Amino acid sequence: MFEQTVYTENREKDYETVLQQLKALIEDEKDVTANLANASALLNQFLDNINWVGFYIWKEDELVLGPFQGLPACIRIPYRRGVCGTAIAENKTMLVENVHEFPGHIACDPKSQSEIVVPMIVDGETFGVLDIDSPITNRFDEVDQQYLEKFVEILIENM
Ligand code: SME
Repeated sequence: MFEQTVYTENREKDYETVLQQLKALIEDEKDVTANLANASALLNQFLDNINWVGFYIWKEDELVLGPFQGLPACIRIPYRRGVCGTAIAENKTMLVENVHEFPGHIACDPKSQSEIVVPMIVDGETFGVLDIDSPITNRFDEVDQQYLEKFVEILIENM
């Protein structure tokens, strides 16, 4: 059973705890859907000021909605479209301070103001993205990026 942690509010330290929690959740399990579902739930109970966290999975030639926490969302995102499709096309993390200034941003929830998208590459192949939305502008910074990239690495290593 997962026990909720009281985080310290030292961001780096708390992110380290979350990385350990992720390892514990997935280490004995290989089912990708189950692990992504728990990973999104783990981030959802940890991150403040977010309104959506989840995964899009690359299928044939587009991203398709995967496990997530939040309101129902757009199901399919073409290559290079929106923040997610751009993260795939450019194979890099997209840190978007203000989604209204991002050309082609796809607004699944009008409340979203800022967003971070981390691409996931498994054995050299595009797998999908981790996507997190916030209802406040400029919610994510380099510390979030650094730790969310580590979070994704742990997930990928276990696939
Ligand atoms: N905003 C994303 C679409 C997915 S939702 O945020 C859940 C984008 O522009 O790719």
